[in-house]
Amino acid sequence: MAEDDTQPQVGAMESARAAGLWDRLGRIAYGADYNPEQWDEATWAEDVKLMAGAGVNLVSLAIFGWAALQPERDWFEWSWLDRVMDMLADASISVCLATATASPPPWLVTAHPQILPEDADGHRLWHGSRQHFCPSSRIFREHAGRLVEAMAARYGSHPALAAWHVGNEYGCHVSRCYCDESAGAFRAWLRDRYGSLDELNAAWSTSFWSQRYSSWDQIIPPRRAPTFPNPSQQLDFSRFSSDALLGCFRHEADIVRRVTPDVPVTTNFLGIFKPVDGFAWADEEDFVSHDSYPDPADPDAAVGAAMAFDFMRGASGGKPWLLLEQAPSAVNWRDVNQPKPAALYRLWSWQAVAHGANGVLSFQWRASRGGAEKFHSAMVPHGGADHPVYRQVAELGRELAEHPELAATEPGRAEVALLFDWASWWALELPSRPSTRLSLLDLARAYYEPLWRAGLPVDLVRPGSDLSGYRLAVAPNLYLLGADAAGQLARWVQGGGHLVTGFFSGIADENDRVYPGPYPGALRELLGVTIDQFWPLGPGDDVRLRLAGQQAGTGRCWSEEIRLHDATAAGWFDGGPLDGRPALATAERGRGRASYCGTLPDAATLAGWLAGAASNAGLTPLLERTAHGIEVQRRLGEGLEALFVLNHDTTRRAVRLAGHWEPAVGPAPQGLELDLGPRELAVLRRGTGNQASPRRNA
Ligand code: GAL
Repeated sequence: MAEDDTQPQVGAMESARAAGLWDRLGRIAYGADYNPEQWDEATWAEDVKLMAGAGVNLVSLAIFGWAALQPERDWFEWSWLDRVMDMLADASISVCLATATASPPPWLVTAHPQILPEDADGHRLWHGSRQHFCPSSRIFREHAGRLVEAMAARYGSHPALAAWHVGNEYGCHVSRCYCDESAGAFRAWLRDRYGSLDELNAAWSTSFWSQRYSSWDQIIPPRRAPTFPNPSQQLDFSRFSSDALLGCFRHEADIVRRVTPDVPVTTNFLGIFKPVDGFAWADEEDFVSHDSYPDPADPDAAVGAAMAFDFMRGASGGKPWLLLEQAPSAVNWRDVNQPKPAALYRLWSWQAVAHGANGVLSFQWRASRGGAEKFHSAMVPHGGADHPVYRQVAELGRELAEHPELAATEPGRAEVALLFDWASWWALELPSRPSTRLSLLDLARAYYEPLWRAGLPVDLVRPGSDLSGYRLAVAPNLYLLGADAAGQLARWVQGGGHLVTGFFSGIADENDRVYPGPYPGALRELLGVTIDQFWPLGPGDDVRLRLAGQQAGTGRCWSEEIRLHDATAAGWFDGGPLDGRPALATAERGRGRASYCGTLPDAATLAGWLAGAASNAGLTPLLERTAHGIEVQRRLGEGLEALFVLNHDTTRRAVRLAGHWEPAVGPAPQGLELDLGPRELAVLRRGTGNQASPRRNA
């Protein structure tokens, strides 16, 4: 069917609506969540003045505004929002307008207590906080829809409206509900997935422990049970719960898209967040948005933040995304909440831009006087505009505004793909596995970090997606891998791709059933290894490794009995019950290569192994010579290439560039040397004849 060009594609990878938003904003956007319902009108006037002073050009408005917009069932109160929208439009500040449905008002809950969610023990979660709705509640969706319909009708053609912010951080507090209505929705979802009970019984292996279902009504969510609930049931409940929340998003997104077909739609992710399958959501957004809250007290916080940014970039297919929330200084929800020094606020904001953010927004604009977040920092702190935090905020606003050319660049795709899959994550971390010490995020981070430190940009992508254009794919763990995705991976390697795979991958199918035959079923032919038994390691049970070239290393978390049937050993276990057995293996396949590691090597060993894989894959880092704590990223545009060099360390660092660059932000290079102070950054630029090649060394 021919594409209807009056209906632009949805999906963060290709939305024309998102492109329109970036054009409208015209520079890296800057702003905050704005919650004017907490303040009087005189304060709004001051807010708009201070926003102008801070270079704010985008706010996300009315996220928790439901009770103020609809104080009673049949009373909509638009006057305050009308006024605020007009004031913002007059000040040329664009609005990412929330659908305001993230916290249902007390009147709704009191009239319909069945919209409240229930936990696995059957306890109801009450109102008086936020996000107290069952994702499957029809009454909740009906009322949310009524509000959104009215919002879209009222503000759809308002000049300030630039984008829709649907809901807020779906799943943040309540990611799954076990109530009877959810049980019914779960059954409907299962009928849709399996078609028949026979299929479901087979997929869930219900012949085990006498769990066979003879009627759909017998199926319930995995509520509290005497011991391990059926793992396939739990996996499907994770899938269902992500889909139920996505259903809430879709319900509201459909309404605003019908009323305002040209206005892009987003919702904010909590980074790489286990309850919500981010890739599936990105397919339904016009652009991806992210809330980033690294801990200023964590010296390595930048690595985790970068990995989340690279999920946003991967999920966006190299298109820009939006940093919709960060903290200007301290948060209030850790046990101990340290302020963020001004240099870190600037550095981490630019870090997001370096990875593809086309806007940097904070939670929230003005610090609340009361409520649960009054000690969370804000762009305008309790101390007002004379406070150092407002001054640092305004400085960054000015700096971002000075470089509109950067908003016309895009991060583009990286050449390294880190394969990451939500279903596999859910299955891996269920109980009753060989080890409960496996955390997908920890494994992913262990593989990501050396690539990040080496200056090799990485996209997080899901297995089964198109890997053409990537030279190296790294799969820290793919416990659960469908046969189609495994086949696609094998074809990609045959065609010249280089794959690095971590232990306990390719073991189970989509229903968490072990592939028949020797491990690792789905990847056995591709990797050329057979695994006879797993030997997971407890805390402190590290094993020694002997690597080709006589180097030594250690492995932790996992070891296993590997036999090579069509691969070459690249490292061995040294000592212990697996002494002399292979630990690392490599297999040549067609024009490519597949490597496997049966443990989690120490950081230096893993870094060396990945560096070898990257160089075999023909990759060159963005910087010729880098230093500890230095991060480098790139964005490309028509005729312009921008290089971002960030020093996350607290000591001065010098790096060497491979070519000549003009300074845009921060210090200028002296010849090929760039000297960066502690937590300092530089944005460098150079012209290109046309679209720069992402393969060139900087
Ligand atoms: C986010 C949320 C905001 C605010 C912020 C505080 O999770 O979307 O509303 O609560 O955290 O850090």
